[in-house]
Amino acid sequence: MQKLAIQGGNRLNGEVRISGAKNAALPILCAGLLTGDQLQLGNVPDLNDIATMRKLLLQMGVKIEVDGDQIVLSAAHVDKLEAPYDMVKTMRAAILVLGPLVARFGEARVSLPGGCAIGSRPVDLHIKGLQAMGAEIHIEHGYIHAYAPQNNGVKRLKGARIFFDLVSVTGTENLMMAATLADGVTVLENAAREPEVVDLAHCLIAMGARIEGAGSDTITVTGVDRLHGASYRIMPDRIESGTFLVAAAAAGGSITLTDTRADILDNVLEKLQEAGAIVRVAGNTISLQMNQRPKAVNVRTSPYPAFPTDMQAQFMAMNCIAEGSAMVVETIFENRFMHVQELRRLGAQIDVEGNTAVIRGRAQLEGAAIMATDLRASACLVIAGLVAQGETIVDRIYHLDRGYEHIEAKLSQLGANIRRVT
Ligand code: UD1
Repeated sequence: MQKLAIQGGNRLNGEVRISGAKNAALPILCAGLLTGDQLQLGNVPDLNDIATMRKLLLQMGVKIEVDGDQIVLSAAHVDKLEAPYDMVKTMRAAILVLGPLVARFGEARVSLPGGCAIGSRPVDLHIKGLQAMGAEIHIEHGYIHAYAPQNNGVKRLKGARIFFDLVSVTGTENLMMAATLADGVTVLENAAREPEVVDLAHCLIAMGARIEGAGSDTITVTGVDRLHGASYRIMPDRIESGTFLVAAAAAGGSITLTDTRADILDNVLEKLQEAGAIVRVAGNTISLQMNQRPKAVNVRTSPYPAFPTDMQAQFMAMNCIAEGSAMVVETIFENRFMHVQELRRLGAQIDVEGNTAVIRGRAQLEGAAIMATDLRASACLVIAGLVAQGETIVDRIYHLDRGYEHIEAKLSQLGANIRRVT
């Protein structure tokens, strides 16, 4: 199993290019199922989750050509309308094939994701939404079997008004995709406003979909008979951007991110400034300079545009070596403090009660062997390793490879002493 060996203490300096967003690329790859024409995508990140999604689409019969960060999909002949358990259990986002399959082919068989490290994460909202659109759904042997209603021999979902009783990112994406080919108008209320939902909507609109309101909490989709091919460039990854910025704020130094966007990172940039960082934005670059020990900052996760749960663990790492105490409240996932145990192994002082962690900053962490438990927890442990004294070995970094493109190469480029060992 691969590990990362980090010698802490180096400041980070230099420039790093931000990759395309994993959480936009995954639904957009699934959008390729909605048309028999070619969908050409650019800025697709080279990540394990993307490879898993490609494998899944390939198994269904989708033709895929890859050239660097460009991917061309052709779903002209899809012969297997199924997402098997072994794929869904490694990547929950595989559930995103459900909406497109039922919408275009009238049926789908998708494994239930089951539990995962950061909580139970059910998919009831995806299912209820499809039922509201007339789909018949049976859960059998751990699989969701979904069938669109038939009218005069034509299988087609029907437009509906769907209210989400809690904000779900992939739930919104699944139902927005399903609605593009439905008969009539679908209104998604209390929809997720995340920038990745907006990116997906822009891609669908380029494919001929009629969508209004993406980015607000009410999305209206008027179904069309068919979608066509398009060419689309995936947005930059705001979580990768935020992770590098926090790493530099914790380790000190001066870095510039290129090919990124500051407008979707408002909350994160504000928190970094509160910690004492100097942040400058120019066009599609963000620079951060940190000349002091960070000040502790409180964080409370909430759906966009509030502070993202996917940045919670990284801020926790920074707070461990900050001046003062901070409170971190996680409101999205019930079990997203798995990194706390590992941070304690580095000497961090953290108390957890329910969904609240109180961190008392220490001047120094000490390197140790630690283990990654999920994707963002891994990023947090890497940041902690960068600031800890001596060597930190982060085990189980396959979690990290799911969502960060060439992270050790990018950090090395900024001056970190980090290498992959087997
Ligand atoms: C997406 C992101 C993930 C991020 C999360 C929250 C992708 C591929 N993943 O995950 O990185 O951490 O948004 O910003 O985009 N829930 C239900 N029933 C449902 C669906 C969700 O109860 O049917 C609950 C979940 O358990 C969770 C909350 O709603 O407590 C939010 O989950 P959701 O927004 O759906 O997360 P994902 O879309 O899976």
